[in-house]
Amino acid sequence: MIILVVGGGGREHALVWALSRSGDHSLLCAPGNPGIGEIAKLFPVKASDIDGIVNLAIEKKADLVVVGPEVPLVAGLADELRKSGIPCFGPGADGARLEGSKWFAKEIMESAGVPTARGKIFSDMVSAREYIGEDACKYVIKADGLAAGKGVFLPDNSVEANGILEELFAGESGVQVVIEERLLGREVSILAICSGEKCVILPPSRDHKRLGDDDTGPNTGGMGAVCPPPGTGNRTGEHARTAIILPVLSELASRGIDYRGIMYAGLMITEDGPKVLEFNVRFGDPETQAVLPLVLDDLGEIFISAATGGSLPEHLTIAEGFCSCVVMASGGYPGTYEKGFPITGLDNIKDAIVFHAGTAMENGRLVTGGGRVLSVASIGDTMEDSLNRSYRELEKIDFKGRYYRKDIGRTV
Ligand code: AMP
Ligand code: GLY
Repeated sequence: MIILVVGGGGREHALVWALSRSGDHSLLCAPGNPGIGEIAKLFPVKASDIDGIVNLAIEKKADLVVVGPEVPLVAGLADELRKSGIPCFGPGADGARLEGSKWFAKEIMESAGVPTARGKIFSDMVSAREYIGEDACKYVIKADGLAAGKGVFLPDNSVEANGILEELFAGESGVQVVIEERLLGREVSILAICSGEKCVILPPSRDHKRLGDDDTGPNTGGMGAVCPPPGTGNRTGEHARTAIILPVLSELASRGIDYRGIMYAGLMITEDGPKVLEFNVRFGDPETQAVLPLVLDDLGEIFISAATGGSLPEHLTIAEGFCSCVVMASGGYPGTYEKGFPITGLDNIKDAIVFHAGTAMENGRLVTGGGRVLSVASIGDTMEDSLNRSYRELEKIDFKGRYYRKDIGRTV
């Protein structure tokens, strides 16, 4: 098959890498990155350029388009591709509202009887402030629309909460904010490949979102991930399938939404069982870099079946063992950082897979080009083996100001 992967981060590198393992597909990527360029043909079309991607898929006679990021999905890329007769692994704009609107997701969960944090939606600041009162640390404040991972706030006190609300309600009119109860527990990410009302679950994983060791500092796009998280077995995946993913797919179907693509459920494993924190409508980043190295099936065949509403296997073929992925970031990320520093040592990596994210070519040299630069992933018989390997290999890679967390997989 000719497969076009849309996006250019670590997640898309992992997707292209996984699709390349079967050897049967011709792989294209837009816009991609230098690492992806080693295994796929790149085209300089932005993921958010809907017409550009559709035209590229038509011109290259793509049999399947796999969409990495959420923005083009929410904007209707999958719908436009399907109108042109091109199968797309990714939901249409109707299904993508599950990520595009926190409140839509809450409504779906309520109708489907899926456990989640109790929440309320507000369109004015005064009522939102009154609702939170003095108990700010019992609540989470979420901007309703897409916010690139920057729309969720966990205030420590009411002064902080008021500041957050002021900022969210400032400027634009029509802002909506969801306030929900704060849940306590361990977080697990569940990824399901969906085809209408059918799904097959990938192994559970865990992202480490905070910048600093021991989960301190600001939230980032993800500093590392493990699969499966120690102590989280198949039961969590099976439970998520029957109690969360399938009921949501069936609720969507009852509203005329034929969901094809990834459904990502971010769960909090609370004392009362798993509850959903959020849905995403695409693969997680960096979870994908830790999950896909363990998947042995030809994902191209499974994605095309899902994209065309076909059948799915009951289970995937998963390698024994554990996978960890550690993100190497530019010093200063997620705040401001410099770019253009040469990256060295990649040729010495023997025992890990290096997925590129914020890298670029400058005068024939690989340099840093973003906040999260690379992720280093490796498999081991135990999580400890896998982590030791990822960290050992990562030490061979250098660039000015490199930063990474030292405790991936070791803290919950
Ligand atoms: P989201 O983008 O909704 O996943 O939120 C980002 C992060 O905020 C999650 O990974 C959690 O760590 C945290 N979070 C979101 N909702 C809640 C909640 N109801 N209770 C506790 N933590 C939450
Ligand atoms: N790793 C979290 C996300 O992809 O949203």
